[in-house]
Amino acid sequence: MLNDRRLLCCAELCVGERAADVGTDHGYLPVYLIEKGICSSAVACDINEMPLASARENIARAGLSDKIETVLSDGLDSVPEEGITDVVIAGMGGELIADIIARAEWIKTNRVNLILQPMTKWDHLRRFLHASGFNVIRELPCKEGRFVYSVMQAVYSGAGPEGECSLEYLYGGLVSGDTCEGAEYLERQAMRLEAVGRGIGRDAARSDEAEKYLSAAEALRAKISTE
Ligand SMILES: C[S@@+](CC[C@H](N)C(=O)[O-])C[C@H]1O[C@@H](n2cnc3c(N)ncnc32)[C@H](O)[C@@H]1O
Repeated sequence: MLNDRRLLCCAELCVGERAADVGTDHGYLPVYLIEKGICSSAVACDINEMPLASARENIARAGLSDKIETVLSDGLDSVPEEGITDVVIAGMGGELIADIIARAEWIKTNRVNLILQPMTKWDHLRRFLHASGFNVIRELPCKEGRFVYSVMQAVYSGAGPEGECSLEYLYGGLVSGDTCEGAEYLERQAMRLEAVGRGIGRDAARSDEAEKYLSAAEALRAKISTE
C-alpha cells in the first residue's frame, strides 16, 4: 500500500503503458503503477545496488517480477528505451534531474511523458525544461510530512523557447493557489523569493534586482485564493 503523497501524485501523472522509475530506491512506485493497472509494465532503475536489491525484493514480494524489470543505471544511461512511455524522476535535486534528462535524447524523439519531482533547485529545472523545448503541462502540489512539493508533468514540444522565464514562474511554476497544498507551496516559494530579495537588497547597488524578487513574491501570494 503506497501512502506517500509525493509518489501518489507522481502516479497520478503517469499516462502510458510502460514507465521507467529513475532512482526507484524501494521500488514502491512501479509496484503501485502495475497493481493499480496504471501501466502494464515498468522498469525500476537505480544507480546503487543496495536500493535496487530492496526494490527487487519488494517487486518479488508483490509477485510482479515478470512485469517490472530492474536495471542498475546512472540516470537512464543503461535503460532500454524501447516501449517506454513515461519516465518518473522523483526525490532528487533539480540539477541532477535536468542532467539525467539532457543525457537521454530519446526522451525528446519518443515524446516521453516526464513526471518530475525536484527536492531542491526547482528554478534550475524549470529554466532547463523551458530552454530545452519541454512544455510543462501540469503541476500538482503535494504535502508529505512537514514539506510541500510540486510534481511536474512535461513533454517535449520541439518549439524553441519564447523569451525568458519570469521569476514568478521559476519559483511557482503552474501551481494554482486554490487548494490548501497549492496555497502552502506558493507561500513557501514566496518566502524563498523574499529571502533572496532581502539578501540581494543589502547591496545598495543591486536594489533593482532585489525589487524583482520582492515583486515576484507578491505575485505568487496574489495567486492564493483559499480562505
Ligand atoms: C531520495 S531517493 C528517492 C527515491 C524515490 N524516487 C522517491 O522519490 O521516494 C533517491 C534515489 O535515487 C538514486 N539515485 C541517485 N542518483 C541517481 C542517478 N544518477 N541515477 C539513478 N538513480 C540515482 C539513489 O540511489 C536513491 O535510491
